Amino acid sequence: TTKMILDCDTGVDDAMAIMYAALHPDIELLGVTTVWGNVHVPLATRNTLRVLDIVGRGDVPVAQGAAGPLLGGPAEFAYEVHGDDGQGGAGDDEPVRAAEPRSAVQQIIDTVRAHPGEVWLVPVGPLTNIAAALAVDPELPELVAGVSLMGGAALAPGNMSPVAEANVWHDAEAAAAVFRAPWRIIMAGLDVTMRALITPEHRDRLAASGEAGRYMARILQHYGDFYRDVAFGTWCCAMHDAIAVAAAVGALDVRSAPTVRVHVDTTGGPGHGQTLADLRGRYRGYPEQEGAHCTVLLEIGDGIVDEVVDLIAAAA
Ligand code: BDR
Ligand code: CA
Repeated sequence: TTKMILDCDTGVDDAMAIMYAALHPDIELLGVTTVWGNVHVPLATRNTLRVLDIVGRGDVPVAQGAAGPLLGGPAEFAYEVHGDDGQGGAGDDEPVRAAEPRSAVQQIIDTVRAHPGEVWLVPVGPLTNIAAALAVDPELPELVAGVSLMGGAALAPGNMSPVAEANVWHDAEAAAAVFRAPWRIIMAGLDVTMRALITPEHRDRLAASGEAGRYMARILQHYGDFYRDVAFGTWCCAMHDAIAVAAAVGALDVRSAPTVRVHVDTTGGPGHGQTLADLRGRYRGYPEQEGAHCTVLLEIGDGIVDEVVDLIAAAA
C-alpha cells in the first residue's frame, strides 16, 4: 500500500481526488490537509470533512492550513469555477466533525516523521502548506517517499495566464521552494490533466450510483458548465487533481516520463508562475540535468478517468 497525505483546496476536482484516495484499496490515507486556493481555507476544510463523511472516512485526520500565500500578499480565489460553496453550489449537509487542532504543517511533519521514507505528499492546491512545512523541517525531503503534485504546465498553455497554471500561479514563491527542494517530484500538470476529461457519460454513471457518486455528479454540473463555456464548447471537465493521486499510487506509467529540472518563474512579470521544465536533457544528457529530480508527466493513457469514476461509482 501507498501511505499518503493529500493537501487540497477543496473545490470540485479536489473532492473527486479525496474520494479516489479515500476509497482506493491500495492507498493508506494518513491525513488530509487543507489550503486556501479555489476557496477560502475554512470552506476548503468544511468541504473536505463533508466529502470524507460521504465516503465513510470520518477516521481520516483533517488539519487546516494556510489562508493565503507564503509571503503574504493578496489571495485570489476561484469561486466562478467551483461555485459559491466550492462544491458547484450543490454542497449539502454540514460535516459531522471539526478539523483537528493541529495545523496542517504539524500534521505533515508528524506523519512523515512517524513513517520515514514511506509517505507520499500529494498537494493539489497552492503549495503554501508544503513550502511552510519545508521551512519548519528542512529534513522533509530525505524523509518522504516523494511529492506527487497537480500543478504547472511544461508544454501546455496555462490556465491563469498564457503560461501559468493556477496552483503554481497562486503562490509561485511557495511552488519555487517546493520545486527547488531535493525530493522526488512527480509533476502532474496541465499537459496531462487537461486531457483527463470527465464527460456527460461519466457524470451519468456517477448519478446512477450510490451516495458518493450521486454527490459527485451533482457537484460536477456547474464545474462542467464552466469548462463548456471557457474551454470545450460542450459539457465536459478536467479531472485534474485525481491524476496526482493516481501517479503516486502507481496507477499511471510514470517511468516513461522524463525526469528533468523545473524552475518556477517568480519575477512578477508576464511569465510569473510559469514552470520552466528543461526538457532538453531528455534527448542529449544536458549537464544542466545534473541532480534533476522532477518527473514531468507528458502522456497518460485513456483509462484513468474511467478508473476513478468506477471506484467512486462502486462506493455505497
Ligand atoms: C488546479 O486549479 C484548481 O482549480 C483545481 O482544483 C486544480 O487543482 C488546476 O489548475
Ligand atoms: Ca485543487
